[in-house]
Amino acid sequence: MKIAFFDAKPYDKPSFEKYGQQYSVKFKYFETKLNEDTVDLANGYDGVCVFVNDTINAAVIDRLADMGVKVLALRCAGFNNVDMKYAYGKLHVLRVPAYSPYAVAEHTMALLLTSIRRIHKAYLRTRDFNFSLAGMTGFDLHGKTVGVIGTGKIGRVFIDICRGFGMKVLAYDKFPASDLDNGDTVKYVELDELFRNSDIISLHCPLTEETYHIVNEDSLNKCKRGVVILNTSRGALVDAEALLAGIKSRQVGAACLDVYEEESDLFFEDNSGHIMEDDTLARLISMPNVIVTSHQAFLTEEALENIAETTVKNIVGFFETQQCPNELCYRGGSAEDCKNGKCF
Ligand code: NAI
Repeated sequence: MKIAFFDAKPYDKPSFEKYGQQYSVKFKYFETKLNEDTVDLANGYDGVCVFVNDTINAAVIDRLADMGVKVLALRCAGFNNVDMKYAYGKLHVLRVPAYSPYAVAEHTMALLLTSIRRIHKAYLRTRDFNFSLAGMTGFDLHGKTVGVIGTGKIGRVFIDICRGFGMKVLAYDKFPASDLDNGDTVKYVELDELFRNSDIISLHCPLTEETYHIVNEDSLNKCKRGVVILNTSRGALVDAEALLAGIKSRQVGAACLDVYEEESDLFFEDNSGHIMEDDTLARLISMPNVIVTSHQAFLTEEALENIAETTVKNIVGFFETQQCPNELCYRGGSAEDCKNGKCF
């Protein structure tokens, strides 16, 4: 099997080479992202392997199908960058449903602690032998209320971590879990109540039409003054302009973003020698109470290993049996769930 691997980074190759050799899958690594301009690179390959910022729209799907490419193997969980409805019947779309919820949940807590205990400031100060504590006052997490939107794999690990800190949890999910609400320290509430009563809000739901800009001017105005916003899920869950306005008006006390609405042309690349054209991102990064990481929450050794192993097994399983438990159907569930009528 020959697979064209788009948006390849140095940290992808060791694990993909290891599992590729083990299962006889040959990868050709392209640094460029997959889009309408680059799709012809996939000519002659059995499948393409893509990540979060590749663009798999109708034109790309048509061209891939014309060239005889059968499989689109996502090496990530989210699939908001694929026109799933259009892909139906043309391409088989496989994904990695879970690779390390711990990686993302732990990064979320790392961002929160860094922000509220001013670690990012302290690191810079002490490197300059500035041992002043002025402006470094933080607050305890113990006893605070965290609102968690999306209680799937990552949301639940994050909830466990927060409970370890002695925090109370208000949860919201379109499909609440039956075994999470204990009526005391973890409660499912309506979204409105979550916005009104949380000291910290963390996003762990997928990006869909329903969740687009779920954090916006209106929802931020409902929040407690000084609310901390955490987004390690997908950038467009947050209206970045509204967040910036909230930071400026002091309605938002701090924001930690591993993802950004317009990240696709910026994140994962070194732009240090370029003029930053995105004024909203530049202004957010200039704020002392905003921390931005460039979609790195997933980036642990364990996650990279799991991503490569599952992706390779997805590809091999599909070509050997024409079936893969991690195939997506256009309605958003797995192909298996779809057949069983359980697809959401
Ligand atoms: P999951 O599928 O296990 O959980 C998602 C949860 O969101 C489910 O419980 C689902 O019912 C809920 N949900 C769906 N629609 C909703 C809505 N309209 N409102 C509220 N909740 C809704 O997914 P998992 O593995 O926990 O991942 C969550 C998100 O994290 C992914 O969608 C992805 O965007 C993001 N992610 C980010 C990474 C990073 O490196 N920053 C890495 C991996 C995932």
